[in-house]
Amino acid sequence: MNVHLKAETMHEPHLRAAQPGARILMCAPDHFGVDYVINPWMENQVGRADLKRAREQWENLRRHLGANVSLDFVAPAEGLPDMVFTANAGLAIGDTVAVARFHAKERRPEEDLFRDWFEARGFTIAPWPEDIAFEGAGDALPDRAQPLIWCGHGWRSHARAAEHLADIFDREAVGLKLVDPRFYHLDTCLCPLSGGWLMYYPGAFDEAAREEIAARVPAQRRIEVDEADAMGFACNAVEAGGRVFMNACSPSLQGRLAAAGFQPVVTPLSEFLKSGGGAKCLTLEVQSRAYSEQTARR
Ligand code: ARG
Repeated sequence: MNVHLKAETMHEPHLRAAQPGARILMCAPDHFGVDYVINPWMENQVGRADLKRAREQWENLRRHLGANVSLDFVAPAEGLPDMVFTANAGLAIGDTVAVARFHAKERRPEEDLFRDWFEARGFTIAPWPEDIAFEGAGDALPDRAQPLIWCGHGWRSHARAAEHLADIFDREAVGLKLVDPRFYHLDTCLCPLSGGWLMYYPGAFDEAAREEIAARVPAQRRIEVDEADAMGFACNAVEAGGRVFMNACSPSLQGRLAAAGFQPVVTPLSEFLKSGGGAKCLTLEVQSRAYSEQTARR
Protein backbone atom coordinates (compact mmCIF):
# COMPACT_ATOMS: atom_id res chain seq x y z
CA MET A 1 0.00 0.00 0.00
CA ASN A 2 1.31 3.41 -0.88
CA VAL A 3 1.13 6.08 1.73
CA HIS A 4 0.25 9.56 0.60
CA LEU A 5 1.69 12.10 2.92
CA LYS A 6 -0.36 15.22 3.24
CA ALA A 7 1.53 18.28 4.36
CA GLU A 8 -0.63 18.81 7.43
CA THR A 9 0.01 15.26 8.67
CA MET A 10 3.79 15.66 8.47
CA HIS A 11 5.64 16.20 11.73
CA GLU A 12 8.78 18.20 12.38
CA PRO A 13 11.87 16.19 11.54
CA HIS A 14 13.77 14.84 14.56
CA LEU A 15 16.98 14.99 12.53
CA ARG A 16 19.81 16.57 14.41
CA ALA A 17 23.52 16.25 14.96
CA ALA A 18 24.70 13.50 17.26
CA GLN A 19 23.10 13.84 20.68
CA PRO A 20 25.72 15.15 23.10
CA GLY A 21 26.39 12.58 25.77
CA ALA A 22 24.49 9.77 24.05
CA ARG A 23 26.61 6.63 23.92
CA ILE A 24 26.00 3.14 22.65
CA LEU A 25 27.76 -0.03 23.80
CA MET A 26 28.52 -2.74 21.25
CA CYS A 27 30.45 -6.02 21.26
CA ALA A 28 32.30 -7.25 18.17
CA PRO A 29 31.04 -10.56 16.71
CA ASP A 30 34.43 -12.33 17.07
CA HIS A 31 32.79 -15.28 18.82
CA PHE A 32 29.26 -14.91 17.44
CA GLY A 33 27.44 -17.97 16.14
CA VAL A 34 24.22 -19.90 16.65
CA ASP A 35 25.55 -22.57 19.01
CA TYR A 36 22.40 -23.52 20.95
CA VAL A 37 18.65 -22.89 20.87
CA ILE A 38 17.07 -20.54 23.42
CA ASN A 39 14.44 -18.84 21.25
CA PRO A 40 12.36 -19.93 18.20
CA TRP A 41 14.55 -18.03 15.73
CA MET A 42 17.52 -20.25 16.59
CA GLU A 43 15.68 -23.49 15.80
CA ASN A 44 17.34 -25.24 12.85
CA GLN A 45 19.98 -22.51 12.69
CA VAL A 46 22.71 -24.05 14.84
CA GLY A 47 25.98 -23.72 12.93
CA ARG A 48 24.23 -21.93 10.05
CA ALA A 49 25.11 -18.28 10.55
CA ASP A 50 27.50 -17.04 7.86
CA LEU A 51 30.16 -15.54 10.10
CA LYS A 52 31.89 -13.53 7.41
CA ARG A 53 28.61 -11.94 6.42
CA ALA A 54 27.74 -11.40 10.09
CA ARG A 55 30.97 -9.44 10.52
CA GLU A 56 30.20 -7.29 7.47
CA GLN A 57 26.66 -6.62 8.66
CA TRP A 58 27.85 -5.72 12.16
CA GLU A 59 30.56 -3.40 10.77
CA ASN A 60 27.97 -1.72 8.60
CA LEU A 61 25.68 -1.10 11.58
CA ARG A 62 28.63 0.15 13.60
CA ARG A 63 29.59 2.56 10.81
CA HIS A 64 26.05 3.96 10.58
CA LEU A 65 25.71 4.37 14.33
CA GLY A 66 29.22 5.75 14.73
CA ALA A 67 28.30 8.62 12.39
CA ASN A 68 25.48 9.59 14.79
CA VAL A 69 26.52 8.73 18.36
CA SER A 70 29.65 7.86 20.35
CA LEU A 71 30.30 4.16 20.57
CA ASP A 72 31.81 2.09 23.39
CA PHE A 73 32.94 -1.52 23.12
CA VAL A 74 33.11 -4.43 25.51
CA ALA A 75 35.59 -7.22 24.71
CA PRO A 76 33.97 -10.32 23.22
CA ALA A 77 34.63 -13.62 25.00
CA GLU A 78 35.18 -17.07 23.58
CA GLY A 79 32.35 -19.49 24.25
CA LEU A 80 29.78 -16.68 24.62
CA PRO A 81 28.25 -16.40 21.13
CA ASP A 82 25.37 -14.17 22.29
CA MET A 83 27.52 -11.56 24.02
CA VAL A 84 27.30 -9.55 20.79
CA PHE A 85 23.73 -8.71 21.90
CA THR A 86 24.73 -6.01 24.38
CA ALA A 87 21.10 -4.89 24.80
CA ASN A 88 20.83 -7.71 27.31
CA ALA A 89 23.80 -6.52 29.43
CA GLY A 90 21.58 -4.48 31.72
CA LEU A 91 19.63 -1.24 31.91
CA ALA A 92 21.73 1.89 32.39
CA ILE A 93 20.20 5.27 33.14
CA GLY A 94 22.49 8.06 34.27
CA ASP A 95 25.27 6.62 36.45
CA THR A 96 23.26 3.64 37.61
CA VAL A 97 22.98 0.24 36.04
CA ALA A 98 20.84 -2.80 36.77
CA VAL A 99 23.01 -5.61 35.42
CA ALA A 100 21.28 -8.58 33.78
CA ARG A 101 20.36 -11.75 35.63
CA PHE A 102 19.90 -14.06 32.66
CA HIS A 103 17.01 -16.49 32.48
CA ALA A 104 18.93 -18.34 29.76
CA LYS A 105 21.61 -20.31 31.61
CA GLU A 106 23.77 -20.31 28.46
CA ARG A 107 24.13 -16.55 28.87
CA ARG A 108 24.70 -16.33 32.63
CA PRO A 109 28.53 -16.21 32.27
CA GLU A 110 28.09 -12.88 30.43
CA GLU A 111 26.85 -11.22 33.62
CA ASP A 112 30.26 -10.86 35.28
CA LEU A 113 31.87 -9.57 32.10
CA PHE A 114 29.24 -6.89 31.63
CA ARG A 115 29.31 -6.01 35.34
CA ASP A 116 33.11 -5.57 35.15
CA TRP A 117 32.71 -3.27 32.15
CA PHE A 118 30.20 -1.05 34.00
CA GLU A 119 32.25 -1.07 37.20
CA ALA A 120 35.42 -0.07 35.38
CA ARG A 121 33.57 2.96 34.00
CA GLY A 122 32.33 4.15 37.36
CA PHE A 123 28.68 3.08 37.13
CA THR A 124 26.87 2.34 40.37
CA ILE A 125 25.73 -1.27 40.24
CA ALA A 126 22.22 -1.56 41.68
CA PRO A 127 21.62 -4.55 43.97
CA TRP A 128 19.45 -7.16 42.28
CA PRO A 129 17.61 -10.18 43.74
CA GLU A 130 19.19 -13.49 42.72
CA ASP A 131 15.89 -15.18 41.82
CA ILE A 132 14.41 -12.50 39.55
CA ALA A 133 15.41 -13.02 35.93
CA PHE A 134 16.11 -9.80 34.07
CA GLU A 135 17.55 -9.62 30.58
CA GLY A 136 18.48 -5.94 30.54
CA ALA A 137 17.36 -3.47 27.90
CA GLY A 138 16.06 -6.42 25.87
CA ASP A 139 13.11 -6.28 28.26
CA ALA A 140 13.29 -2.76 29.71
CA LEU A 141 12.94 0.29 27.47
CA PRO A 142 12.84 3.84 28.86
CA ASP A 143 10.23 5.99 27.17
CA ARG A 144 11.74 9.02 25.42
CA ALA A 145 9.12 11.53 26.49
CA GLN A 146 7.78 10.36 29.86
CA PRO A 147 9.68 9.21 32.96
CA LEU A 148 8.64 5.60 32.61
CA ILE A 149 10.20 2.28 31.71
CA TRP A 150 8.34 -0.19 29.49
CA CYS A 151 9.06 -3.69 30.84
CA GLY A 152 8.45 -6.99 29.03
CA HIS A 153 7.89 -10.35 30.70
CA GLY A 154 6.48 -13.75 29.88
CA TRP A 155 9.44 -15.47 28.23
CA ARG A 156 12.75 -14.29 29.63
CA SER A 157 12.53 -11.55 32.27
CA HIS A 158 10.41 -12.10 35.38
CA ALA A 159 7.20 -10.07 35.77
CA ARG A 160 8.56 -8.70 39.05
CA ALA A 161 11.66 -7.21 37.41
CA ALA A 162 9.52 -4.11 36.75
CA GLU A 163 9.02 -3.26 40.44
CA HIS A 164 12.77 -3.49 41.09
CA LEU A 165 13.50 -1.23 38.13
CA ALA A 166 10.93 1.29 39.38
CA ASP A 167 12.73 1.39 42.76
CA ILE A 168 16.21 1.59 41.30
CA PHE A 169 15.48 4.29 38.74
CA ASP A 170 12.75 6.09 40.68
CA ARG A 171 10.19 6.16 37.90
CA GLU A 172 7.13 4.23 36.85
CA ALA A 173 7.77 0.81 35.31
CA VAL A 174 4.91 -0.58 33.23
CA GLY A 175 4.83 -4.38 32.93
CA LEU A 176 3.74 -5.70 29.53
CA LYS A 177 3.04 -9.40 29.04
CA LEU A 178 4.49 -10.93 25.89
CA VAL A 179 2.44 -13.79 24.47
CA ASP A 180 4.03 -14.72 21.13
CA PRO A 181 7.24 -16.79 21.51
CA ARG A 182 8.72 -15.22 18.37
CA PHE A 183 8.73 -11.90 20.22
CA TYR A 184 10.38 -13.15 23.39
CA HIS A 185 12.11 -9.90 24.35
CA LEU A 186 10.27 -6.58 24.52
CA ASP A 187 12.73 -4.93 22.13
CA THR A 188 11.68 -7.35 19.38
CA CYS A 189 8.19 -5.84 19.32
CA LEU A 190 8.28 -2.34 20.85
CA CYS A 191 10.45 0.71 20.28
CA PRO A 192 10.01 4.06 22.10
CA LEU A 193 11.03 6.97 19.86
CA SER A 194 11.72 10.68 20.43
CA GLY A 195 8.78 12.96 20.88
CA GLY A 196 6.74 10.25 22.61
CA TRP A 197 6.25 8.14 19.51
CA LEU A 198 5.92 4.41 20.09
CA MET A 199 6.44 1.83 17.35
CA TYR A 200 5.13 -1.61 18.27
CA TYR A 201 3.56 -4.86 17.08
CA PRO A 202 0.25 -5.27 18.97
CA GLY A 203 0.04 -9.03 18.25
CA ALA A 204 2.98 -9.72 20.58
CA PHE A 205 1.09 -8.47 23.66
CA ASP A 206 -1.82 -9.62 25.75
CA GLU A 207 -4.97 -7.51 25.99
CA ALA A 208 -3.99 -5.91 29.30
CA ALA A 209 -0.61 -4.84 27.89
CA ARG A 210 -2.25 -3.27 24.84
CA GLU A 211 -4.52 -1.34 27.20
CA GLU A 212 -1.53 -0.15 29.27
CA ILE A 213 0.04 1.17 26.08
CA ALA A 214 -3.16 2.83 24.89
CA ALA A 215 -3.60 4.49 28.31
CA ARG A 216 -0.17 6.13 28.10
CA VAL A 217 0.42 6.89 24.45
CA PRO A 218 -2.24 8.70 22.41
CA ALA A 219 -3.35 6.96 19.21
CA GLN A 220 -1.75 9.67 17.04
CA ARG A 221 1.67 8.85 18.54
CA ARG A 222 1.38 5.07 18.16
CA ILE A 223 2.99 3.48 15.12
CA GLU A 224 1.50 0.00 14.92
CA VAL A 225 3.45 -2.33 12.66
CA ASP A 226 2.02 -5.40 10.96
CA GLU A 227 3.23 -8.97 11.36
CA ALA A 228 5.43 -8.88 8.26
CA ASP A 229 7.35 -5.81 9.46
CA ALA A 230 7.53 -7.28 12.96
CA MET A 231 8.99 -10.52 11.55
CA GLY A 232 11.59 -8.40 9.75
CA PHE A 233 12.62 -6.99 13.16
CA ALA A 234 11.43 -3.49 12.27
CA CYS A 235 10.63 -2.81 15.94
CA ASN A 236 14.16 -3.87 16.89
CA ALA A 237 15.35 -0.45 15.85
CA VAL A 238 17.96 2.01 17.12
CA GLU A 239 17.14 5.69 17.00
CA ALA A 240 20.18 7.94 16.70
CA GLY A 241 20.23 11.53 15.50
CA GLY A 242 16.62 11.29 14.27
CA ARG A 243 17.45 8.31 12.08
CA VAL A 244 15.97 4.92 12.84
CA PHE A 245 18.26 2.00 11.99
CA MET A 246 16.69 -1.38 11.40
CA ASN A 247 17.11 -4.69 9.56
CA ALA A 248 14.15 -4.14 7.24
CA CYS A 249 11.18 -1.80 6.80
CA SER A 250 8.27 -1.95 4.36
CA PRO A 251 7.58 1.09 2.15
CA SER A 252 4.39 1.69 4.13
CA LEU A 253 6.21 1.74 7.47
CA GLN A 254 8.96 3.90 5.99
CA GLY A 255 6.27 6.37 4.98
CA ARG A 256 4.73 6.41 8.43
CA LEU A 257 8.10 6.91 10.14
CA ALA A 258 8.93 9.71 7.72
CA ALA A 259 5.57 11.38 8.42
CA ALA A 260 6.42 11.22 12.14
CA GLY A 261 9.68 13.06 11.42
CA PHE A 262 12.10 10.11 11.43
CA GLN A 263 14.43 8.94 8.73
CA PRO A 264 14.37 5.14 8.47
CA VAL A 265 17.70 3.55 7.52
CA VAL A 266 17.74 -0.12 6.53
CA THR A 267 20.88 -2.00 7.50
CA PRO A 268 20.48 -5.75 6.84
CA LEU A 269 21.31 -8.09 9.70
CA SER A 270 20.15 -11.49 8.38
CA GLU A 271 22.87 -13.49 10.18
CA PHE A 272 21.91 -12.06 13.57
CA LEU A 273 18.21 -12.68 12.91
CA LYS A 274 19.13 -16.40 12.85
CA SER A 275 19.92 -15.92 16.52
CA GLY A 276 16.78 -13.86 17.19
CA GLY A 277 18.45 -10.46 17.26
CA GLY A 278 18.42 -7.30 15.13
CA ALA A 279 19.84 -3.77 15.31
CA LYS A 280 18.58 -2.88 18.76
CA CYS A 281 19.76 -6.18 20.30
CA LEU A 282 23.28 -5.40 19.10
CA THR A 283 23.36 -2.13 21.05
CA LEU A 284 22.92 -0.78 24.55
CA GLU A 285 22.41 2.86 25.37
CA VAL A 286 24.77 3.89 28.14
CA GLN A 287 23.54 7.37 28.85
CA SER A 288 25.61 10.14 30.30
CA ARG A 289 24.99 11.96 33.55
CA ALA A 290 23.88 15.03 31.58
CA TYR A 291 21.15 13.06 29.91
CA SER A 292 19.70 11.75 33.16
CA GLU A 293 19.73 15.21 34.80
CA GLN A 294 17.94 16.58 31.81
CA THR A 295 15.45 13.75 32.07
CA ALA A 296 14.90 14.30 35.78
CA ARG A 297 14.25 18.01 35.28
CA ARG A 298 11.33 17.38 32.93
N1 ARG B 1 20.23 -15.41 20.87
C1 ARG B 1 20.01 -14.33 21.79
C2 ARG B 1 19.13 -14.78 22.93
O1 ARG B 1 18.23 -15.54 22.71
C3 ARG B 1 19.41 -13.17 21.08
C4 ARG B 1 19.23 -11.97 21.98
C5 ARG B 1 18.56 -10.84 21.30
N2 ARG B 1 18.57 -9.70 22.13
C6 ARG B 1 17.53 -8.87 22.33
N3 ARG B 1 17.73 -7.83 23.03
N4 ARG B 1 16.34 -9.13 21.86
O2 ARG B 1 19.32 -14.40 24.06
